[in-house]
Amino acid sequence: MKSLFERCYQYGTKLADKTELLARELASAPPGYYGGLHMTLLEGVRPVTKVRTPSGEVRDMLMLGSNSFLNLNFHPRVIDAERRAAERFGSGAGSPPLYAGQTVLHEELEETLAAFCGTEAAVLFPAGYSGNVGVLSGLCRPGDVIFCDSSNHASLFDGARLSGAEVATYLHLSPAHLERQLKNCAAEGRLIVTDGVFSMEGSLAPVDELVRLKERYGAMLMVDDAHGFWAVGRDGLGTAEVFGVRGRVDLHYGTFSKALGSVGGFAAGRKQEIDYLRYYARSTFFSSAIPATTVAAVLESIRIVAEEPEHLANLRRNRGLFQSALEERGFDTLNSRSAIIPLLVGDEAKLSGLQMALFEHGIFTNIGTTPAVNARKCRLRLNVMATHRPEQLVHAAEVIEKLGKQYGVIS
Ligand SMILES: Cc1ncc(COP(=O)(O)O)c(C=O)c1O
Repeated sequence: MKSLFERCYQYGTKLADKTELLARELASAPPGYYGGLHMTLLEGVRPVTKVRTPSGEVRDMLMLGSNSFLNLNFHPRVIDAERRAAERFGSGAGSPPLYAGQTVLHEELEETLAAFCGTEAAVLFPAGYSGNVGVLSGLCRPGDVIFCDSSNHASLFDGARLSGAEVATYLHLSPAHLERQLKNCAAEGRLIVTDGVFSMEGSLAPVDELVRLKERYGAMLMVDDAHGFWAVGRDGLGTAEVFGVRGRVDLHYGTFSKALGSVGGFAAGRKQEIDYLRYYARSTFFSSAIPATTVAAVLESIRIVAEEPEHLANLRRNRGLFQSALEERGFDTLNSRSAIIPLLVGDEAKLSGLQMALFEHGIFTNIGTTPAVNARKCRLRLNVMATHRPEQLVHAAEVIEKLGKQYGVIS
């Protein structure tokens, strides 16, 4: 049976037909996950967050659904940096970077990111999504080939399609399949692009293997480590650090929206390629810069991660503890090695029942299904934060076990 998303997308002949179908379905038989999607936060993200549910009820929820892995959002230094930037720069940028949107803080952040990635230069984007669209469509053109892991983030596929290049999708985590495609490729413009940490399952791309292949077949390699920077690797330097190949990745890409809990994206690499992107990546050239207040918060968060190792240490402890607790209870966590811990369910009806029941028990989680992943591999997606207390995660594992049995996810 097709998911509601697929049915609506394909429905009708006029543009508005599908919108009517969705409105009708949501009014009569909303899917179980609908409530979760329409929860409104009444305060910022904390391990226990105050929310308003779709029925108007105000509740405290154990938060297992935020990408703010280090949860520095209320750190006094971050708040203070943002306040000071507001006093000096005001509330917004008002222009793209190359017009009048680039402040000294933006410059400092670009330099900090280049140093963080060990590259010559870096360029900022207003969001992680739009940055990927800009980088791929700016760098590649018809006649080039972009090799994409089949589980890459939507923004990478969207940017690849927009570029007009051929998109060659290789099997998820399969360097062998990628190599067959590279062998048969006649084009000279070749870009291999992969998530560092895969956002729907927390597994790591085999970046060492990808480096070997790009060097062997003369391709460029871009790693989007949105979920890896400031979260995985000994010093939080990301997936390439885990595999010891940071210096051999051509283009590093990241976002401030995950571990640092803010907003914005960046690419880091050789100066001439980064400078090229300033003009040709249309999502920076034609889009206003991130506000200086946000830049200040991001800069301060980066300093905190370097100066206060307990944040990364707590994240590492929490994710290890939670993943073991769930695996001991019989859940399949799909080889996660990061703060994103999926629980494979494989049946949308069971998944939405489980998620809704968890919601009722005061635990907020996300799900992964179409269009993000195939519905046959649908999953509960749990995100751990550095600020969770171990007993909160043990409690969550116990409730998930009880409800997982009730919904037939584990026996
Ligand atoms: C790998 C990857 N790239 C890019 C993005 C988009 O980032 P943002 O939410 O900052 O737009 C995401 C978001 O989940 C992601 O997982």
